[in-house]
Amino acid sequence: MSNFNERAKDWDTESKIERSNAIARSIKNNIKLDKNMNILDFGCGTGLLIFPLIEEVGAVHGIDLAPNMLDILKEKGKGYKNLTTELTGIFEITSTFDLIMSSMVMHHIKDITKLAVKLYDSLNPDGMIAIADLMEEDGSFHDSLDGIYSLGFSNEFLEKIFRDAGFKEIRVVENIFVIEKNKKKYPLFLLVGKK
Ligand SMILES: C[S@@+](CC[C@H](N)C(=O)[O-])C[C@H]1O[C@@H](n2cnc3c(N)ncnc32)[C@H](O)[C@@H]1O
Repeated sequence: MSNFNERAKDWDTESKIERSNAIARSIKNNIKLDKNMNILDFGCGTGLLIFPLIEEVGAVHGIDLAPNMLDILKEKGKGYKNLTTELTGIFEITSTFDLIMSSMVMHHIKDITKLAVKLYDSLNPDGMIAIADLMEEDGSFHDSLDGIYSLGFSNEFLEKIFRDAGFKEIRVVENIFVIEKNKKKYPLFLLVGKK
């Protein structure tokens, strides 16, 4: 993940902010947020998904494997007493949360079955997941496929893996945002599920 460490200082572009705001809107449209909720954002990067939501929830914990990403998040989040960060991976967390969210991280994770089980185990009763990522693509989204384990995801795959992990009320909301890159369109989904 050293690549993300190098990219951290240039991460916050207009287009990534626009994308994250769209994902945050979709989360708000699909999940009732409240001030008692504690949220985990795994692979939070510089916190682009955290800031549009943090004032509507109780607490947010951002974790990432890239220290430079977290340094930027900490600097940007200085004024927020309900924001904590941790340099760690999703498989290492030991706390539980009311909502676990992520944006554009799942395609970097090798074992999605293991991820689904870990997310389920890391939720409080009735906890929710909200995971945004690429719908199936042809492999052209990334310049290099180093560290990419899935070329987007199909609804059928997501529904099966997350149902088998124990989730109920699984929904894949399609086309929540479209990334335009090299004259191609890459739509995103939001996977919502309940423990
Ligand atoms: C494409 S970036 C997305 C960053 C941020 N979520 C955003 O949308 O701006 C993927 C991030 O996931 C982090 N990451 C990758 N695998 C991870 C894992 N197993 N646990 C936690 N973070 C991970 C990377 O370090 C990187 O910062």
